[in-house]
Amino acid sequence: MDAADDSYKATWNARSTTLADGMLAVDGSADEAVLALTGAYTAAQLRAALRPAPGEHAFEIGCGVGRLGAQLAPEVASWTGLDIADNMAALARQRVAGVPGATALALDGARLPMADASMDKGWCVAVYIHMDKEDMVLSLREVARVLRPGGRFVVLEFFRPVSMGARLLQGSYNRLVLPVLGGLVSGYGAAYRYLAGSIDAFETRAGFEAMVQAAGLSVHGREMFPPVAGLVVGEKPR
Ligand SMILES: C[S@@+](CC[C@H](N)C(=O)[O-])C[C@H]1O[C@@H](n2cnc3c(N)ncnc32)[C@H](O)[C@@H]1O
Repeated sequence: MDAADDSYKATWNARSTTLADGMLAVDGSADEAVLALTGAYTAAQLRAALRPAPGEHAFEIGCGVGRLGAQLAPEVASWTGLDIADNMAALARQRVAGVPGATALALDGARLPMADASMDKGWCVAVYIHMDKEDMVLSLREVARVLRPGGRFVVLEFFRPVSMGARLLQGSYNRLVLPVLGGLVSGYGAAYRYLAGSIDAFETRAGFEAMVQAAGLSVHGREMFPPVAGLVVGEKPR
């Protein structure tokens, strides 16, 4: 585990010492009904892009309290939630306790605890924006390693906008629109108010797609909420 992993772990563990804190950190709300609502909305985007099927093995990087695992784990043979924060993984484990084949584990770095070519589907929502570039590269290589040929990985993120118009709009967009979109997509509405600054330092969608491709996946992407939120689908070549 390097210094960055240590710092991710400490930061996110501190934000999830209780269920209420963990929910606030991923959803901006400690209300289970809100978590279920934002989870259902985001899960619908993931479902459309991933088409999870019974019998498939799925994983999620940065699973938080299991907001999305609770929605999608019942649709696959197994779901493994993975999170750098041991506290988050424990909260997610509790949330999916009744779902056959579902569990959550803590990560110590980018390495994923799955065998080569063993996974059918995977996803990651509002996590890479919190990582430095080197860790993203390591994580994406791991994703490519564990996916079977034809397996799919979907990333939903708030990418840095590229067009001049989008950049001009971004100031008001970040202040007024992003907290609402952040709440819908990642559930992270309150935090997106301050997180808006992180978007400036994050990849554009094209830049991120190039990283996914460099990791060995073929890529297609689409805007979800132009000009900022986007969804990137990577597929392991057959
Ligand atoms: C904004 S929350 C999103 C949680 C979940 N994806 C969702 O949408 O409900 C970000 C999550 O990423 C986790 N995280 C942060 N850095 C990470 C890393 N380097 N590796 C794995 N998980 C990480 C945090 O602990 C936290 O649970």
